[in-house]
Amino acid sequence: MKRVLKAKKICIIGGCGHVGTPLGLAFASRNFDVTLLDVNPKAVENVNKAHLPFKEDGATELLKAHVGRNLRATSDAGVVKKQDVVVFVTGTPVDEHLNPKIHDVMKVLAAYLPYLNKRQLVVLRSTIFPGVTRIVEDALKAKLGAANLAFCPERIVQGKGIEEIFNLPQLVSGVNKKAENAAAALFSAIAPKIIRIKPEEAELAKLMTNAWRYLEFAIANQFYMMVEKQGLDFYRILRAMKDDYPRAKHFAGAGLAAGPCLFKDTMQLSAFHNNEFFLGHSAMLVNEGLPNFLVSQLEAKMGSLKGKKIGIMGMAFKPDNDDIRESLSFKVKKLLEMKMAKVLVTDEFVPGTTPLKAFVKESDGIILGVPHSAYRKLRIRKPFVDCWGCWRNG
Ligand SMILES: NC(=O)c1ccc[n+]([C@@H]2O[C@H](COP(=O)([O-])OP(=O)(O)OC[C@H]3O[C@@H](n4cnc5c(N)ncnc54)[C@H](O)[C@@H]3O)[C@@H](O)[C@H]2O)c1
Repeated sequence: MKRVLKAKKICIIGGCGHVGTPLGLAFASRNFDVTLLDVNPKAVENVNKAHLPFKEDGATELLKAHVGRNLRATSDAGVVKKQDVVVFVTGTPVDEHLNPKIHDVMKVLAAYLPYLNKRQLVVLRSTIFPGVTRIVEDALKAKLGAANLAFCPERIVQGKGIEEIFNLPQLVSGVNKKAENAAAALFSAIAPKIIRIKPEEAELAKLMTNAWRYLEFAIANQFYMMVEKQGLDFYRILRAMKDDYPRAKHFAGAGLAAGPCLFKDTMQLSAFHNNEFFLGHSAMLVNEGLPNFLVSQLEAKMGSLKGKKIGIMGMAFKPDNDDIRESLSFKVKKLLEMKMAKVLVTDEFVPGTTPLKAFVKESDGIILGVPHSAYRKLRIRKPFVDCWGCWRNG
């Protein structure tokens, strides 16, 4: 394990979020002095009590080991003054027109500008619209007379963040050589490899990676709908396609493609390309249309859903995770309600949902929203729709 020679003080703004916390824990485990700064008082309280605010493999152990020692959470903006490094990793959603909200990024920056100084390294880590690093550079220069600014995008997958931070190469960019070198030195404490590129390239690399994933899922979902509409089994065909055929090895299965990143980052890329990212928009139509198709598949099996008890199994946006942000299971729920079905939902990770046993007993028909591990081995003896390929035989 790499160790830093001199403990540095690092503050993460948005530190109690899904990206900020794993990052803070990673630096804490390398002997940095870490402050997680967050406006969410509940999350701050939880972190300080060593309660992780969300599910993340391996994070609780690290939190217990470091909280109260070289890691703490706070809502006090004044702590920024005392730091060597200040990382910004607040959310970057798109607006109601699916355009980036650059104003939000600048608002967060403005709130902390009074506490920043030009000796500190400022790192942007959120997924940002191309050009935002340069806009932030201008704002820092205007206020501080200089910008020691880096953009180093986060690329972890939620739930596996701790493992991935230590294993994924880190893209590092800076607005000048000094900032780039400082950021490279910082991240070499936690990442196995540093890849240096320009800020504009790093911004696009992150968005293109997410858009590419979104497109991959759209291809699988389009083929799923194409095949199943003909009464054929998509997964029998997929298995045959992939069997000892290396070029199809990474072909994705179908599934609800949702969550807080892939869709909005595809739309950010589209906004960047003057709304002419035709593949991205097609992917959106396919992925956002899958819930409608699943409901029609259930109707084909059960007839009218009016008055029937229909269960959605899995409300999180991905398997074995508790995150419901932008989950398409909620779109399935709305569609079922429009069909005047009585909708039941279950999710072992989401509080307030119907317990699994009662859910299965009470439901007349079931749509698999997301395949948590516990659902994969179930034998469902009621009409069901499973686009993930868990409950199908041969
Ligand atoms: N979730 C992922 O797996 C993932 C992976 C890679 C990149 N990203 C990107 O990272 C960024 C953050 O995503 P996230 O999932 O961690 O979001 P999140 O909502 O989980 O975390 C953001 C945190 O910022 C806090 N916050 C908001 N405004 C603040 C302010 N003014 N001062 C201090 N704290 C503030 C919120 O309370 C929240 O805890 C986004 O740009 C996202 O696209 C996310």
